[in-house]
Amino acid sequence: MTLDVETIRSWFPTLQKQNIAFLDNAASTLKPIQIIEAMTTKMKYQYTNVHRGVYPLASKATEDYERAHETIADFLSAKPEEIVFTAGTTSGLQLAARLLEYNDMINEKTHLILPKDLHHSAILPFYRAGVGKRSKIILLNLDQKGRPQWTRLEEILPETDNAIIVAGHVSNVTGYEAPISYISRQAQKHGACLIVDGAQSVPHLPIDVSSLNACMLAFSGHKMLGPTGIGVLWIQRDLAYSLEPAYGGGGAVVDVKPQGNSLEIEWLEPPWRFEHGTPPIIEAAGLEAAVKLLKDVGMKNIAEYEEKLIQALYEELEKIPGVNIIGPEPGERRGLVSFIAESIHPDTIGMELGLRGVAVRTGMHCAGPLHHSLGLEHGSVRASVYIYNTLGDIHRLVRELKDILST
Ligand code: ALA
Repeated sequence: MTLDVETIRSWFPTLQKQNIAFLDNAASTLKPIQIIEAMTTKMKYQYTNVHRGVYPLASKATEDYERAHETIADFLSAKPEEIVFTAGTTSGLQLAARLLEYNDMINEKTHLILPKDLHHSAILPFYRAGVGKRSKIILLNLDQKGRPQWTRLEEILPETDNAIIVAGHVSNVTGYEAPISYISRQAQKHGACLIVDGAQSVPHLPIDVSSLNACMLAFSGHKMLGPTGIGVLWIQRDLAYSLEPAYGGGGAVVDVKPQGNSLEIEWLEPPWRFEHGTPPIIEAAGLEAAVKLLKDVGMKNIAEYEEKLIQALYEELEKIPGVNIIGPEPGERRGLVSFIAESIHPDTIGMELGLRGVAVRTGMHCAGPLHHSLGLEHGSVRASVYIYNTLGDIHRLVRELKDILST
């Protein structure tokens, strides 16, 4: 089955109002009317705080908020208690690193394995926790296509007894899809804990965390049609129950009793013990609506449709003299193609394309280690697709790019 792209496009006010080839989806996607309406309805008629009041409106708000966890759990083949709402991937990965550090799973005996294609949001929290705890940090090098040397796990892991591997499931620069089954098999074999940055994979691929054999996976709502300000940190159930929260606060505890000069804290069960403070209630309604919509369209359909767009984008860019594509062949990548042009700075290309109605991202894409490793000191231009893009958008980008390069 293929996507009914014309119907999908009709859901997006931006696409109805503007003649734009929106190819900046890896940064954030446009918002469909269904999500706007779900959030508006929540604010207009169904809003109160959650897990606090006992009056009917508050009970309904709590019910809705908890159901959003169930909907997202179902989307990932997870359990509702494994779904922790965060502010996005960055805060999810910060929370992940902090939880491991607080619970002494990052210490001076830990080997932290960090590939150089990680986004800053994934590399920095773990790197900094590791430096602070004097862990052994191993940065995995990249080959010329920007693929980390994952097979090095076979030589590194047997020498470790407390390793943490952080993997970017899909790189936000090369689009490279990491061999996640291989990585998780290696992690499992050697008792290592795998943390997955799913920011660029969960919006685009069917994900089944029940067979992922990972400790945690983080992603954002705003890259999958949902609102900003919400994301998910999936924490594997047994691990979630074993972890003491790194942050306390309202909504995270059953009770706190003074005992002399100490406090006796009784934490709530997961996921609530990790959701301190008033959570993203309105955003949860938006993310739930987004996930339902993606489920209706079908994640397998989305993956297949995007594959065709990426194949076309890659092949057309490859033919343009002076354009160099960063990263592997279409079969090894998902959702995006980044490139440089020999003669023009990436930012100039981005600005020129923007003036011609083509939206792309330029710069280092929060991936300094990757760009520096590949000698791309000025960054790159990135075109990234989603369910509403068409081959027409690809042709427009290529046409305008050729024109820019020829003038
Ligand atoms: N992480 C997002 C990107 O790659 C913002 O553009």
